[in-house]
Amino acid sequence: MKHFLNTQDWIRADLDALLADAARFKRDRIGDALKGRAIALVFFNPSMRTRTSFELGAFQLGGHAVVLQPGKDAWPIEFDLGAVMDGDTEEHIAEVARVLSRYVDLIGVRAFPKFVDWSADREDRVLKGFAKYSTVPVINMETITHPCQELAHALALQEHFGTPDLRGRKYVLTWTYHPKALNTAVANSALTIATRLGMDVTLLCPTPEYVLDERYMGWARQNVAESGGSFAVSHDIDAAYAGADVVYAKSWGALPYFGDWEKEKPVRDRYRHFIVDEAKMARTNDAVFSHCLPLRRNVKATDAVMDSPACIAIEEAENRLHVQKAVMAALVAQPS
Ligand code: CP
Repeated sequence: MKHFLNTQDWIRADLDALLADAARFKRDRIGDALKGRAIALVFFNPSMRTRTSFELGAFQLGGHAVVLQPGKDAWPIEFDLGAVMDGDTEEHIAEVARVLSRYVDLIGVRAFPKFVDWSADREDRVLKGFAKYSTVPVINMETITHPCQELAHALALQEHFGTPDLRGRKYVLTWTYHPKALNTAVANSALTIATRLGMDVTLLCPTPEYVLDERYMGWARQNVAESGGSFAVSHDIDAAYAGADVVYAKSWGALPYFGDWEKEKPVRDRYRHFIVDEAKMARTNDAVFSHCLPLRRNVKATDAVMDSPACIAIEEAENRLHVQKAVMAALVAQPS
C-alpha cells in the first residue's frame, strides 16, 4: 500500500501523473473518485489552506472529511512504544491509527516539529507512527516536509511557463526574515521538487548555519544527478537573484540553534534585508515569485512584490485543492 509521505518516495512518472490529474481536476472540479469514501484529517497544528482544500476536495469528489485535533477535540495521543501512559496522553497511536482505518479510507496528518530537539523532530515520528499502524493510505499534510505544497507549487510553475518541462529554469529558494524561527518543511520541500524537476537551483540563505538538514541537501544533490539540473548554495543576494526565472521565499530557523531560539534570534535579526523587494526582483529574468502562505507582508516580501503580476502565490494556494484531489483519488484507486 502506497502512502503520500514525501514526493521523494514516488517515482517521477507517478508524480507527473498526479500533476496531470490535478490539471484535469482544475478543469472538471466535480467527480466521484471518492464517492462513499472518507478521509480523517488529523491536525496537531493550525491551518487555513490545508484544512479548507482537503475538506472541499473530498466533498467535490463525492467523499466526506472528518477533522480531528488531538488534545483539543480528540484525545491526546501517545507515540512512544512501551510508554507508561500515566501522563497527559489518553490513547496510543497503535489504537488511534487502526481504529481510524476501520472508519475511513485515507488519513491526513499535520504535525510540525516541537522545535526543541531537531534530532528527535527529524525522525518525523508522528507521521511515521500513523503510517506504521494505519491500514489505509496516509497523506503528509505538513510535518518536516510539505509534499502537497510541492505539487501545488510545481503545477503553478508549469502553468506560468506554459509547459510541464521546467528543466533549465533558474530557481532561487531564498531564506527570508521572520520574527519567529519557523519550520524548515516548505524549504526542504521546495529544494526537493525543484531539483527533481531538473531546474538550476540555488539555496540562498544568510550564513552556512541556515543551510537545511543534510537529508534534504542530499536529496537535492541526488535529484540533480538524475534530472540534469544543478544545485548550489549561496549567501550572496545579488548573485543569487541575477537572471533568476523563479524566486520562492520561505523563512526558517537555523538548525544549529534548534531549541535555543533566544540565542538564534539576534543572529536572525541581522538579516531582515533578505526581504523580497522590487530592487531584488529587478535583478531577475522577469522572475515569477511565490510563497506557500501564510506570509507576513513587508517582512518576508513587500506589498509591491505581493501585488505584482509576478506573484503567483494565490494560484499556488488554489492548486492545493486540485493536487490533493489527485493524490486522494490516486491513493484510493490503488489495488488493496
Ligand atoms: N501553506 C499551507 O499549508 O497553509 P496552511 O498552514 O494555512 O494550511
